Order: sequence, then C-alpha cells, then structure tokens
Amino acid sequence: MNYGYFDGPNREYVITRPDTPASWCNYLGTPAYGAIISNNASGYSFVESGAMGRIMRFRFNSVPMDQPGRYIYLRDAESGDFWSGSWQPVGKDLKDYKSECRHGTGYTVIKSEYSGIQTETLYYVPMEGLYEVWNCKVKNVGDTPRKLALTGFVEFTSDSNYEQDQVNMQYTYFTTRTYFRDKFILQAINENCAEAGVTGSAGTSDERAEGIYRYFGAAGATVASYEGDRDTFLGDYRDYKNPISIENGKCSNVLNFNKNSCGALQFDVVLQPGEEKTINFVFGAGGNDTAAKLVTKYEDMNQVAKDLQGVKDFWYARLDRLQIETPDENFNHMINMWNSYQCLLTFIWSRTASFQYCGQRNGLGYRDTVQDIQGTVHIDPELSRERLELMLSAQVDNGGGLPLVPWGYKPHTIGTPDDEDYVRATQHPYYRADDALWLFPTVHTYINETGDYDFLNKTIPFSNIGEGTVYEHLRRAIQFNLDRQGVHGLPAGLHADWNDCLRLGSKGESTFVAFQLYLGINNLKQYASRFGKADDIVWCDSLLTKMDATIQENIWNEDRFVRGITEDGYVVGHRDNDEGSMWLNPQSWAVISGATKGDQGKIAMDTVHEILNTKYGAMLLFPAFQKYGLPVARMALMNPGTKENASIFSQSQGWLLLAETMLGNGNRAFEYYKEFNPATMNDTAEIRKIEPYAHGQSIEGIESPFHGRGTVHWLTGTASTVMVGMHYGILGLQPDENGLRIDPCIPSDWSGFKMSRIWRGKTLKISVFNPAGVQKGVTSTIVNGLEIRGNYINADILKDGGFENEIKVVMG
Ligand code: GLC
Repeated sequence: MNYGYFDGPNREYVITRPDTPASWCNYLGTPAYGAIISNNASGYSFVESGAMGRIMRFRFNSVPMDQPGRYIYLRDAESGDFWSGSWQPVGKDLKDYKSECRHGTGYTVIKSEYSGIQTETLYYVPMEGLYEVWNCKVKNVGDTPRKLALTGFVEFTSDSNYEQDQVNMQYTYFTTRTYFRDKFILQAINENCAEAGVTGSAGTSDERAEGIYRYFGAAGATVASYEGDRDTFLGDYRDYKNPISIENGKCSNVLNFNKNSCGALQFDVVLQPGEEKTINFVFGAGGNDTAAKLVTKYEDMNQVAKDLQGVKDFWYARLDRLQIETPDENFNHMINMWNSYQCLLTFIWSRTASFQYCGQRNGLGYRDTVQDIQGTVHIDPELSRERLELMLSAQVDNGGGLPLVPWGYKPHTIGTPDDEDYVRATQHPYYRADDALWLFPTVHTYINETGDYDFLNKTIPFSNIGEGTVYEHLRRAIQFNLDRQGVHGLPAGLHADWNDCLRLGSKGESTFVAFQLYLGINNLKQYASRFGKADDIVWCDSLLTKMDATIQENIWNEDRFVRGITEDGYVVGHRDNDEGSMWLNPQSWAVISGATKGDQGKIAMDTVHEILNTKYGAMLLFPAFQKYGLPVARMALMNPGTKENASIFSQSQGWLLLAETMLGNGNRAFEYYKEFNPATMNDTAEIRKIEPYAHGQSIEGIESPFHGRGTVHWLTGTASTVMVGMHYGILGLQPDENGLRIDPCIPSDWSGFKMSRIWRGKTLKISVFNPAGVQKGVTSTIVNGLEIRGNYINADILKDGGFENEIKVVMG
C-alpha cells in the first residue's frame, strides 16, 4: 500500500494519506533549536539538547500514536463542527477530510480540506533564533461566507529536562505559570528566581537558581480568547481530539498557576467565498521582550518567504554537491535528497532526538559520531572537520575513545572510563574495542575529499592529558588494540565491538575489530610512507604479517570468517554452531580491510548471499540466538529476527554494498541496495511501517512474524554507511590527495548515468556510458574534450569556480 510519493524536482516527500502506519517525520531546525514533526503535526522542540532543553511536550510511545504537537483547530461557528489543520488529533473521517503533507529540507507543509475550508500550514525554524514559525493560511473554497474559530495550541514542558517533566510532578506541578500579553502567552518557570530577559536555558529546575521563559504568540490577527492552563483547555476526561475550549468555540481565558501550562490562542476568522487569511504563530524560548519583538516581526507577511528561502539555501547548497541521474529513480531520490539529508541530520542530532530516542544519551557516542562524519564530509567538509577534531580530542592518551562525549565537552576536564568523575557523569565505565578505530576510515575520507594531508600534522589534545598530532592519535588507536588482545593475538572485544550486544570481554577476541585494525594499520602505513617515517613502516609491516598469519590460522572457516573467539574458546560464528553460525560483518569487513587471501572474499560474500540474503536485505547473522546467551551473546535478550539478534541491521548493508563493489559485483550490490532501500518499499509501506524516505536502525528478519518491518527511524549510522557504499562504491567517486578516480560499479543493465559533483571548489559534470553492459571497468575518460589515460583525473587539470568540467567516462 502506498501513502505518498517522492517529488524529486521539489525535493519533497508528499504524504497523500495521513493514516500512515507509523508517524512519518521530518526534522526542523539548527543545532541551536531543534524540532521533530510528524505528518500529523505531532512532535516536540528543544533548545540545543533533546534531553535538557525540551520546551514542547510530547509523550513517547503514547496512545493515540505520538501526541501532542503543533495543533491548529478549526470550528465552524454555525454548525459547531470542528476539525484540525492536520488530520490528527481530531481525526475526521477520511471520506470527508483531505490532507497532504510535504516534508522538505528543514520545513514541513501540512494542507487540509474539509467542509469547504482549506488550510495550509508551513512549519519551519529560521536559520537563526530559538523559535519556530507556523505560517497558517486558511481559505474559504466554498460559495457561502464562513465564520470560523481558529485556535493554535501547544503544550509547554514544565521542566527543560524531559525526564523530570514527565515524572517529577510533585515538583514540577508547582513551578510554572502563564501570562497573557495581548498577542502571546508567556510561560514562566521558577519565576521567583528569574532575572529580566532570561531565555530558555537548559538544565534541571531543581538544580538551577534561575527562571525560564517560553512563549507562544501569533501575528496577523487579533486574539479573541486564550488559555494558558492545559487542563482548562482540554477539560476533564477529554483529550486532544475534543478539547472543551474547541467544542465551545472559544477559550475561557484561564492561565495556569501550577500544574500544566499550554499556549492556546483563538481567533475569530470570517471568510467570504474565495477569501484567504494568514496567521503566523511563533513558539520558542525567551522572555517578554523576545516574544513581543518576534510577533511584530511576523506581522510582516514577507518575512516567512525570506526565512524559508534561507532554510532552503542552506540545504540546497549542501545537497547540490552530489546530484545524480541514474535509471533507478529510487536510488536518485536517496542520493539527491533523502540519504544525504539524513546524513546531516544524524550528524547534528546524533542519537538524541526522534520518536524513539528521547535524548537520554545526552552527548555524542564515540563510534556513532565518528561514523556519521564519514557521510557528511562530501556534503559539508568544514563542519565535518570541526566535529572530527572534537572527536580526536575525545580520544584518551591510551588510544581508546571516550564512550560518550557529553554536549559541550572540553578536553582535559572529565577524566576517562577509569575515573570516577567520568563514570559518574556519563555512566560509562568501560571502553569499546572499536571506538577509535573508526577514525581511520573517517580521517581518510576527510583528507581525500579536501586534499588536506597537513591535517595529519595538526596537534590536538588527548581527552585526559597531553596532546599529539592527528597522526599520533591514529598511531595510538592501533596501540590501544595491540595492548588489549586475546590468546590468538586478535584484538579483544571488550565491552562491545560495534555490536553493542556482543560482549567478548577483555580476553575474548573480535574478528570484526581485527579487520578494522588491519585496515587502520594499512592506512597508517600509507601515511608513514608519505611522511618518510621508516620505523613506522617497519612496525606496520610486521604487524600486518603477524595479523595475516593469525587471521588465516584462526578465523577462516571453510566458506566464511567467524565472528569471534570467547575467553573459554567458543568460536562465535562457526559453521557448525546451532545459533549464529553465519555473520555478515566479518565477511564484508574482510573484503573492505583487504585482509582476504585468494578467493576468500568471493567465497565469503557468496555465503552471505546464500544464507543471509532476504527480500529486504542481508541479515546481521543467522540463526538468531535463543539458547546461547549472556554473558557473551546479549542479543539473546531480544526476540529472534530483531535488532542485533538476526534482523537486517541497516548499517551493515552499507558495508555489504561497499564490499560487493570492491569485488566488482555491481549486479549483486544493487540487488542488495534495492532490497533494503526504504524507497523501494514505498508501495508496501504497510509492511515497512516507518518512513519510506529514511533509513531505520533495522528491518526485522525472517525469524520475525513481521519480516520487513522497519524500526527505530531516522537517527542511525546507516545514513553515513550506506552513503559511503553508494558514493565511493556504486558511483565510484574516489578522490585522493592529487585527484579523483571514477570507477563505478553498477548493474550491467544500466546503459549509463550522470553525476554532478562539487569537489574542492570545482564543478564536475560527469556522464558515464556503459555500451558493453559491464558491471565495472573503465575504458576511456575524456576531460573537457581531452582523453586521459585510465580513469584517474589529476585535480590540476580541472578548472575552478563556476566552470563546468565536462567528464565523459566510458565503461567496458
Ligand atoms: C546501534 C548503536 C551503534 C551500534 C549498533 C550495533 O545502532 O547506535 O553504536 O554499533 O547499534 O550494536
């Protein structure tokens, strides 16, 4: 079943049926002010942190689905009939109620039509400021004059700490009150401690001696009635579907003193046939003056168009850096807009703000964040570099990464997992085996994108003590794993090794980490060669020789690489095991790392195809764990076929793509891509449930009765990892220090495709032709009319600025 479609030219996903099988969301905002909004206008907003800066209330996992949000109610004064500008919360019969939601880059438009009245509400957060705008147009499309009550409604949190807001009512019931100021409702929290003009700063109320203000205002019409008290607005034993103040056609001008605040502003709107009126609602963090100023600002009806252009300009400048036109529309949608967009959103919000992530992890997870950067380097190299430097500065001097890097982190301030203060602040007493190893592919991607090899010489502090060049940071990342090994000489799996549910401990060994380490050593060797560090080259070579022997002796198992060896010698992922006898990541990573010998890569990837492939992508492992469980296989805690216990873990699909393209298998790589691409399931959305335009963390595997159902939407390492597989693997855009190799790996039935790429200030217009129907291989490359040898284009033959470098690549 289909609930909407991709509008490529407008860079929007259009939801035509509002009764989607899950809330289909979009993100609005900047790092200073974030918001999530569903196709039914539900969601929440926060200043900086989803956990500590929550200003709009939302109930996770609620029934009815995902409420409340940013609601606009309408009521016909004559009939008394009422509805909402988004289908929910009133939920009129869809026979009579028409709705369309357009999710775009940093904005969402929700349209409705019911009983001869149309509404169109544009929701967005301007590029600057701690607020959001709901630009609401209401139009009479019937042929009789209409008298309406239009009410905008929002529920404020009582505490910026979302958890306190939800559970600590013995406290938060007594800290808030609201005021009506003509054009806005002002909410005050801890008002007795307030100083004039204090804004919506984050923190827990009972630990903070300051007041906080938020507001909900409107421009473009005169407020007829208002409510600041949520319970008065809703009425006893009612909910958002039928608030008493809506049923009555006017609010009763009650402000809250204790309990729960809301902002409800009602307007009397009289519309002649064909007439349209606009009201701009503004909601945000800030005091009286801020609110008054903003309401005045949005009396100017041109302001919205200017703001929206600013938001679009920001996003389009980034998306335009890579645009493609291939025979596969769904692939195009993901590269041109949705996957790229998801990369940057995930980069910004990490794993802290969605309808499943509530913000509790109040900071940046090391591995996730370093992985995320790999997907944004080509979209925004500057921003990526800033974050990369932050993550390098969160590397401990022993080479390991801090498992959690709190928001606002500064090196040399919070200790390490071995120190009490760090553990108290983050609840993370253990290192993960893989965290700092992700620096290798990310640093590599960064310097290849920018050509900035000097970055390796930049000095950056370690998190606890001292400092070192980026090169030295990488060297220590290797040392960290060398210092933590098991009896076979493979790296220990520690508390987790990418897989949060595989606890191999300090003696059990991880093959996934072994492959990562192998790649890392190779990278370091390349940098050592470049800088003439002879000792390090020797060191790397001796490590690689040793690892080759260890890998071949201990972890190749006929047609697959095993997943690990526990402290007591149990081989996880051995083909004779009853459970988890086949794993995806060690196969793809064996190929990516370059550690395979002879046909091993091909054989291992064929086994993946044979055992793990499903119609929605390849499972993480098979069969699921049900008997062999803790302490090692923590995934046994989960139902079979879900999450780490044999789902189609979405992030792993990205490595699968990359590995298949490295082997030259364009057909198979694309077969997998089509299986797990959310857009492929646009017409079977009732199976996938979550958004067809965003990856989720996983898709349930064949052991689940809901095979194909997507879970944990939006914020996932899948975005960056799949982007890497598509960008560097399938499209074959492979920059390095001096130039760019174009080496696509595509389905043989593609006769060609086009790409446009902005790279180091140069615009590249690339046409790829595939007359012989191959999967990989380039026979000729023509750059601005001149044929070059091979498929490697030296950067200095490309012209800068607005000049469009025409590149023709013929495969064969
Ligand atoms: C989740 C975590 C990620 C981890 C993965 C596998 O996606 O965010 O850090 O690697 O699960 O366990």
